[in-house]
Amino acid sequence: MAQQVKAVIARAKGAPVEVTTIVVPDPGPGEAVVRIQACGVCHTDLHYREGGINDEFPFLLGHEAAGIVESVGEDVTEVAPGDFVVLNWRAVCGQCRACRRGRPQYCFDTHNAKQKMTLLDGTELSPALGIGAFAEKTLVAAGQCTKVDPEASPAVAGLLGCGVMAGLGAAINTGGVGRGDSVAVIGCGGVGGAAVMGSRLAGAARIIAVDIDDRKLETARRLGATHTVNSRTTDPVEAIRELTGGNGADVVVEAVGRPETYQQAFYARDLAGTVVLVGVPTPEMTLELPLLDVFGRGGALKSSWYGDCLPSRDFPMLIDLYLQGRLDLGAFVTETIELDAVEQAFERMHQGDVLRSVVVL
Ligand code: APR
Ligand code: ZN
Ligand code: ZN
Repeated sequence: MAQQVKAVIARAKGAPVEVTTIVVPDPGPGEAVVRIQACGVCHTDLHYREGGINDEFPFLLGHEAAGIVESVGEDVTEVAPGDFVVLNWRAVCGQCRACRRGRPQYCFDTHNAKQKMTLLDGTELSPALGIGAFAEKTLVAAGQCTKVDPEASPAVAGLLGCGVMAGLGAAINTGGVGRGDSVAVIGCGGVGGAAVMGSRLAGAARIIAVDIDDRKLETARRLGATHTVNSRTTDPVEAIRELTGGNGADVVVEAVGRPETYQQAFYARDLAGTVVLVGVPTPEMTLELPLLDVFGRGGALKSSWYGDCLPSRDFPMLIDLYLQGRLDLGAFVTETIELDAVEQAFERMHQGDVLRSVVVL
């Protein structure tokens, strides 16, 4: 039977979010209903509310979540009721050209639940990133549920579902940071902070955090930065070069998503190094670079979607490292809040006060 649960929706562009009752259908073939235990507040939720993603209001917000599988539809074998799962927004298809070539982390045909959750009057909801987890329960594709060790705290585990995974993966998967490398991370919010932490995990020898906010630089130090640069007062390209024997860093992660910071990343990178763009630009942004520099400086310019993660490979592994005390994922949880406090959490996020506010249910 379809269930009625409490959830946070964005009804119209720019309007404050509201807590309301939604209808969650029983899972159909290939689907699962998950009882949400925790869900982080991410910029993308705010972008949805502001109409920056598309106009398919009303949105069911929330997508960095962990919970317990309550029920599954026919044919679902990968998860079962009672499993503790982190939700992912890239359920791989297994059949597209990327999957067939053994590169499922790039799957070009990821999927979500087929049925729709609705308001009480039947209006269909658009779940953020195909998840919609600021809700007591949500309906997803079974492939969006990744089982991890239930010892992990839901508030921490859920963060792997988006921003923290994006940052960790930008360093480890996309940037290929390795032992002894020098790394610079431009922009040290939740995503950049995770790139710092991932670089430390991978054995980087020098990790230079760059931000315009001293509070973020302090946090970056806690997360593993060996040096910090406030780029409001110091030229970050010169500073990074100075800290790397005049050469630039092996890997530079851009976690802001702006042309100026991308340009800094490009010139702060050593010859033949790698630039990783994980910050998300807006549609009107363009980039101008001398093509001769692009050629002459060699190396790789990559973008990182969701940290090029493969949830089934990366989530359980990272949770295991966390439980062993080798990856302080708890450092990203600045505060836990109630479901009705999402609007205030947006405000604090905007002020730069938090890495992550996490709704705990
Ligand atoms: N130079 C350096 N740092 C900057 C600059 C700049 N010009 N502008 C902003 N920043 C810093 C902010 O001070 C902040 O610490 O970038 C950080 C951005 O962090 P958050 O706002 O917390 O955002 P986060 O969740 O980390 O996401 C970063 O990745 O996934 C994308 O959409 C997301 O584009 C966003 C980016
Ligand atoms: Zn695929
Ligand atoms: Zn997100």
